[in-house]
Amino acid sequence: MVFNCVLKRVVDDSYDIEIGHSLQDKLIADLKNGLTGKKKFAVVTDSIVEGLYGRDIYERILAAGFKADLFVIPEGEKSKTRAMKEFLEDSMLEKGYRRDCAVIAVGGGVVTDLAGFAAGTFGRGVPFVNYATTLLAAADASVGGKTAVDTPLATNLIGLFNQPDKVYLDIDTWKTLPRVQISSGLAETIKHGCLGDKELFEFLENNVEKIFEGDVAACEYIAEHNCAVKYKVVMQDERESGLREVLNLGHTVGRAVETVSDYRLYHGEAVAIGTAAQARLGEKYGFISRDNRERVEKLLERAGLPVRIPDYINKQELVKKLYTDKKVRDGKLRFVFQKEIGEVVQFGENSFAKEIAEDEIAAVIAEM
Ligand code: GLY
Repeated sequence: MVFNCVLKRVVDDSYDIEIGHSLQDKLIADLKNGLTGKKKFAVVTDSIVEGLYGRDIYERILAAGFKADLFVIPEGEKSKTRAMKEFLEDSMLEKGYRRDCAVIAVGGGVVTDLAGFAAGTFGRGVPFVNYATTLLAAADASVGGKTAVDTPLATNLIGLFNQPDKVYLDIDTWKTLPRVQISSGLAETIKHGCLGDKELFEFLENNVEKIFEGDVAACEYIAEHNCAVKYKVVMQDERESGLREVLNLGHTVGRAVETVSDYRLYHGEAVAIGTAAQARLGEKYGFISRDNRERVEKLLERAGLPVRIPDYINKQELVKKLYTDKKVRDGKLRFVFQKEIGEVVQFGENSFAKEIAEDEIAAVIAEM
């Protein structure tokens, strides 16, 4: 006997990304207007952002007459674990949180990835909102609905596609970022230029220093262009059945070198090395000219990013670590390649990654 459970769904996960300056009042106004449909909020932040923005947002939520608690995780990529998710969940349960709440993530990519994942499984799913306080989160992590934690094997292996109810990109928060964090966010921004926005790439070639100076127009420009590149891809392939793999440009070597460095490299630094690696390999295949490959490396360096593999990285271990990449199919490494500047190479219908033999990428890694 077969009992056919017909459960077809039409889903509308649309949400707004608000780009602006000091958006705390806007967040509170949206919560008052029923953004999440909830009146009780778990504000999740990290030990650095707590003092800068997290506690302030929590206090504003309380002052608006809502129930709220502040949940603080230690700052840094090493907090993005299943153990920390469990700690957050248990802390919320102990404070009486059930399905009657929403999660407000205030911070960078670690906070938004972890809190978004926790929200997706807490009580089988509660709404969440991202208030991004880093350029990296604004450029990539907080938008697009990928939520995850790392495991000892590699980054982002366990997670959910889970779209937020709204994302706030508060450009004013970039003023409190250390230079290295601006660089890290610029790596994802340059990646977006390389794979889908030649104008963004050329803008950065002309203006990258302005981002470090906090130039308002330049910061707004990159925030908007980052969103546009991601949106164009995610709206077509939210669950990464093909096209979304292009957003992985530079991440095959990038994620591997980040893990092998034991997180001495910031995510963006690792992505910069990975972007340089795919450009070098891409040059060998004729996907990018030598001139354009050099432009990519030069721009990364001007953004304060590495394009060489640090001496402390064991290159054999790095090559082995490439196999932890989610794009691996049938045990074969697969790479996304930029096509000159502003496009990616397509390898077939809905196919944007090329199978690469281990010795080909090992040779590139050896020369870096
Ligand atoms: N960070 C890559 C993506 O959102 O697909």
